[in-house]
Amino acid sequence: MWLYSSILLLSATNLVSSFVVLPYIQIDYAHLIRVAHCKAKCSEKYGYPKTREQLDGSIDEYFFVSTEEYTKCENGCLQFQHRRDMKRSNLTGETLQGAKFWIESSAHSGKVGSSPVSSAELLCQMPSATVDLDDSFEGLLGLTKVRPSGPVQYVVQWKQRTYALGYYDESQWITASVESDSIIKVDGMIPGVQYKFLVTVVGPAGKLGDTIQSEWTEISNTLIVKTPSAPLIVKNGFNSEQGVIAHLHFPRTAYDSCNLRVQVKNATNSIVTDVRVDPTFSILLSHLEFDSSYAVTLSALSSDQITATSPISVRFNSFQCRQVYGKGSLHCAPEPVSNIRVAVRPNSTALITWTASAEPENILTYAITYQAFLGTCNKDPTTVYLAAPSTSYEMPLPSNKHCEFMFRITNYDAIGREAFAETRIAVIKEHLVNASMKIPLIALGVSSFLLVLAVFCFAICRCCCTKCPAKVAENKTKLTDYA
Ligand SMILES: *[C@@H]1O[C@H](CO)[C@@H](O)[C@H](O)[C@H]1NC(C)=O
Ligand SMILES: *[C@@H]1O[C@H](CO)[C@@H](O)[C@H](O)[C@H]1NC(C)=O
Ligand SMILES: *[C@@H]1O[C@H](CO)[C@@H](O)[C@H](O)[C@H]1NC(C)=O
Repeated sequence: MWLYSSILLLSATNLVSSFVVLPYIQIDYAHLIRVAHCKAKCSEKYGYPKTREQLDGSIDEYFFVSTEEYTKCENGCLQFQHRRDMKRSNLTGETLQGAKFWIESSAHSGKVGSSPVSSAELLCQMPSATVDLDDSFEGLLGLTKVRPSGPVQYVVQWKQRTYALGYYDESQWITASVESDSIIKVDGMIPGVQYKFLVTVVGPAGKLGDTIQSEWTEISNTLIVKTPSAPLIVKNGFNSEQGVIAHLHFPRTAYDSCNLRVQVKNATNSIVTDVRVDPTFSILLSHLEFDSSYAVTLSALSSDQITATSPISVRFNSFQCRQVYGKGSLHCAPEPVSNIRVAVRPNSTALITWTASAEPENILTYAITYQAFLGTCNKDPTTVYLAAPSTSYEMPLPSNKHCEFMFRITNYDAIGREAFAETRIAVIKEHLVNASMKIPLIALGVSSFLLVLAVFCFAICRCCCTKCPAKVAENKTKLTDYA
């Protein structure tokens, strides 16, 4: 004989109207189907469709019934069950309507249409927060819908089994409750026991499609909140309504807690959100910014949301603006020019060329600024403006002076925002060198090589190598000049 512990099924979104069932008193299934039929008629008349966002950002359309009229109608369904004479029952308004619906309802309506529900699963479990159910677990039974449910009610049955001495000891189906929401709180589950759920969807015209069964799901043996398991995976996204987003995927199993705490951090900000799992498989992170680094941590919360487990974490970079809008788009902050090259020419000029960061029509203008910061040149800055299609500038160089310039190319986009790139240009006496191209180093290398070569010549073929000492001297001067 089974001694059933009490299982409470509470509508998770509307805990106010939740109720306790006593499963060891077997509720008549046919009777509950008729109750569901009556309530579905009340839903149709006094409820209305509403939407809510699920964790992954998708929209769930459900039937909202937390209205005063619906509650009265539902009372009419329930109250009239035990009365025969409607005239003497004193019912009025919506309650009377409920009573009329009860008379129209049937426990044996044939199947109509198809089920809006494709699967049922125990989404999560955690030690129960309900007084008197201290040593048990609560969880959420989630129904996955293939279309908006319409004004339906869900008749929930369950059974349990335990494994002992080589075989399963399994109960009969126990009819538990009529629910109007597709996420249903189940309380009082016993550690170590397996549970299975069966859902019949009932609409205003009768049963909808076939019943849906969940898999067997085992309740943990230890009364603790499970730490979420790695890995966390982030997938970047973008849409026109929410902007830059990311989906946080985590391995969700029936052993995990129903309550999660998500923390999203960037260098300056941290946002903590507590969420409850639902039938979707990821958590939408919205209000992100382009091109930013984030750290996300996920921890499981106890049912009273007070205790959190140790967190697991992941880092990611959000989408780059140009990945979404294309390079140089006005939706994005402007980028600096790239690939700056400096070609020094014999007539004391340097030709500076670059690759534009955007199409010319998205560039308002270029500002070229250069200023000597080392050496004997005039240190006043020079600024020149160039039209959008330009990709080069001829810079006059001082002759017979040794100085180093900072050369900056600022590009303004069509709405005036700017970005810049810089390079350094070193002018060594008459030799003109682009510092960014490391020519001074190469010159140094060549000089040392010549020096060694010269010493070698000097030592080995002293008499036949007359020109070497002069070269050494020349290079040596240059070397000390630069240093
Ligand atoms: C109906 O209402 C009348 C007067 O309000 C009352 O006397 C009577 O007892 C009520 N009947 C029931 C069944 O509640
Ligand atoms: C962090 O995020 C906040 C809010 O989105 C934003 O204002 C701030 O600029 C971000 N900081 C960094 C360093 O990205
Ligand atoms: C310098 O020489 C280049 C060719 O090497 C020529 O195109 C340019 O016009 C000259 N600039 C000046 C100022 O003479």
